[in-house]
Amino acid sequence: MSKTPWWADENVWRKTAIWVTALMLVALILLTFDSVAKITAGSDRVPAYSVINHRIYYKMDNDRNMQVPVIGGQAPLFGTVLSEEQAQAMVSKGKMTVQAKNCMNCHTLLGNGAYYAPDLTKAWLDQGWGAEAVREQLMVNFLLDPEANARGYGTTRKMPDLDITEEEARAIIAFLKWMSAIDTNGFPRNFKPIAQEGE
Ligand code: HEC
Repeated sequence: MSKTPWWADENVWRKTAIWVTALMLVALILLTFDSVAKITAGSDRVPAYSVINHRIYYKMDNDRNMQVPVIGGQAPLFGTVLSEEQAQAMVSKGKMTVQAKNCMNCHTLLGNGAYYAPDLTKAWLDQGWGAEAVREQLMVNFLLDPEANARGYGTTRKMPDLDITEEEARAIIAFLKWMSAIDTNGFPRNFKPIAQEGE
């Protein structure tokens, strides 16, 4: 009677399965820590919340062949310089409002959401706001009454009035400004940024 070859032995495969699972578990844990470090505000690609005190614009990076956000000099949102804690509270309120009002039902943020309405990931830098000097006020007006202040993106779609208070609108804008400073590897593609002052 012939002996079972080693590779057909059940024990060998049982041990292999256990080792592979254990190794993958370690890899998963390491990758989780690595990802968390990369998505935490204040890291290389995701700036600290106080970035909303600065001017943010987009620049073509020829090495990476994509547009990347650049953090410029002081340009406080609504004219008030905020501490890191105040900025975090404001951005966080904006994010909570965006979640509570389910903006993702129509919009996409950082790759999540729907494509009925424009992608909001870089909305702060959108050409549609015309000029940097009037952008903040136009955004507040738009969020408070989107139908009256609709600008149209080549479609006849309109954003409904979502009963947003002025404080919520300002917080949403802080959230959008912070999000526009995140280096998203050129996402969304073919985005047309607002003309930069002095260009
Ligand atoms: C029912 C769908 C719908 C929902 C929900 C919705 N929007 Fe919109 N939104 C639109 C449409 C459609 C437009 C384009 C309007 C236009 O062109 O006038 C738009 C445009 C915008 C713009 C301008 C986009 C740009 O690129 O400058 C912003 C900012 C915006 N929405 C923010 C929000 C926020 C914040 C929420 C949640 C509080 C939200 N929207 C919820 C449909 C929606």
